[in-house]
Amino acid sequence: MLTTRPRGTSDILPGEVEKWQYLEQVIRNLCREYGYREIRTPIFEHTELFERGVGEATDIVEKEMYTFKDRGNRSISLRPEGTAAVVRAYLENRLYAGPQPVKLYYLGPMFRYDRPQAGRYRQFHQFGVEALGSHDPALDAEVMAMAMDLYSRLGLREIELHVNSLGCPQCRPVFRERLREFFRERDGVLCRHCRDRLERNPLRILDCKEEGCRGAAQGAPTVLGSLCSPCEDHFRAVLGYLEQLGVPYTVNPYLVRGLDYYNRTAFEVVARDVGAQSSIGGGGRYDGLVEACGGPDVPGIGFASGLERVLLAMERQGISVPSPPGLDVFLVAADEAAREQSLVLVQQLRKSGLAADRDYMGRSLKAQMKFAGKLGVGLVAICGAGELARGAVILRDMRTGIQEEVPLSKLVEEVKLRCTGRKESAPVNGNHAGA
Ligand code: HAM
Repeated sequence: MLTTRPRGTSDILPGEVEKWQYLEQVIRNLCREYGYREIRTPIFEHTELFERGVGEATDIVEKEMYTFKDRGNRSISLRPEGTAAVVRAYLENRLYAGPQPVKLYYLGPMFRYDRPQAGRYRQFHQFGVEALGSHDPALDAEVMAMAMDLYSRLGLREIELHVNSLGCPQCRPVFRERLREFFRERDGVLCRHCRDRLERNPLRILDCKEEGCRGAAQGAPTVLGSLCSPCEDHFRAVLGYLEQLGVPYTVNPYLVRGLDYYNRTAFEVVARDVGAQSSIGGGGRYDGLVEACGGPDVPGIGFASGLERVLLAMERQGISVPSPPGLDVFLVAADEAAREQSLVLVQQLRKSGLAADRDYMGRSLKAQMKFAGKLGVGLVAICGAGELARGAVILRDMRTGIQEEVPLSKLVEEVKLRCTGRKESAPVNGNHAGA
C-alpha cells in the first residue's frame, strides 16, 4: 500500500510533465486570445452544490462522487467537475454585479469514482471555460469554435463536433413526456437503472451504454422535434454562426450530456483515436443553473476538456511537443578546493538568468563529466585549483569537445554567448504540434 498509488490516479513524472506544461501553455494563450481569465476554486465543495448543480439523478452525483464527512460533520465532496464551482464563485463573489459576460477558465484535477480504463481515471484533469451573463447564440458558437481551435492548435486531426439542443424548461417537459411514453412501451428491455430513470430522468436513457437500452432507444423521439420556437431560433442561430466561422459540425439529435444543468445548446467533441473514451471535450448552455444555485436569473455557457484524453489523442496521432530547454551549463569541479568554489559560481550563474547545476554526490572528475553528458547539457564549466588561481575556468562544448579557458569575470557572458549560438542553430523537430 505504501508504495502504490490509489487506483485511477497517476504520477506525472519528468519526461511526461513537459507535455502537460506545453498543453497548459497552449491553453493559457488560447484563453487570453478569447478574453477568458483564470479562476481557481477549491478542490472540494459542499456536497449540496453538486447535488443541486450537476443533478441528484446523474451518475456523477449518484455513483461517482468522492463524498465524506469532515471533522465538523459537514458533507464534503471532491469536485467531479468545474461548472458548479465556478457558478458558486460567481455568486459568492458577486461577479454578476460587474460587466457581463464574465469569461472564466480553469485548469485542474477533478475526481470521479468510476471504473478506470484507458482515458478514464478517478483523478483526471480538466481545462474548462465558463461564460456567464449572455444569452447570445454567438457566444455558444464562439465557445465551440474555441474548443475546436484548441484541438487544431495542438495539431489534432479527425476531431468531430457533435451538436444538439436540449430545449428549455418550457419545451423539455413535452419532450420528456414523449420519451416516457416511448420507453414505457419498451421498459421490459431496459436495464435496472433505466427503469428507475424512466420516471425521474428519461433523457438519461438515451445516454445509457447497456445494449438493451441502446436497442430500445432506436427510433426514440428527438428533442429537436419538440423545441419551442425561441429554442429553435436559438439553435438555428448557433448553427448559422458555426457555419460563418467555418467550424464543421454534425447535428446529433440523440446527444444528451451526463449532467442535468444543460438547456438549449449541448455539444461534445469526439476524437477517433482515443478508443472507448472518445469524448475529449463537452459542454453546453446552462441558463437555469445560476438561479438554481440561489442567484439571479443569469445564463451561462461553457465547455470542458479532459487533458489526459487530449494527450492520449496526441500520442496516438504521433504528435510530439517541443521539448523545453534543459540546463545551460554544468559546473564540474576538478578538486576539493574547486568543489567549494563551484557552489558560489553556480549560484552566480543562476542569478544572471542561466540554468546551471553542479555535482552533489562527491563524484570524480570523470564521473561528473559522464553525469553532465547523461543530463544532456551542452556546456560544461570545469574548474580546478590551477584555473581558479588564474581567475579562470575551462568551458567545454560537449558536442564538439572543444575547450577554451575563459576568465571568471566573463563566465556569465561567455556561457550566454554560447547558449544563444546553440539555441539559434538548434534543429527544429519536424513534427511539432501547430508547426
Ligand atoms: P463532462 O462531459 O462530464 O462535462 O466532462 C468533460 C470532459 O472531461 C470529458 O469530455 C472528458 O474529456 C473529461 N473526463 C470526464 N470524466 C473523465 C474521467 N473519468 N477520466 C478522464 N477524463 C474525463 C463537464 O464536466 C462539464 N462541467 C463541462 C461543461 C463546462 N459544461 C459547461 N461548462
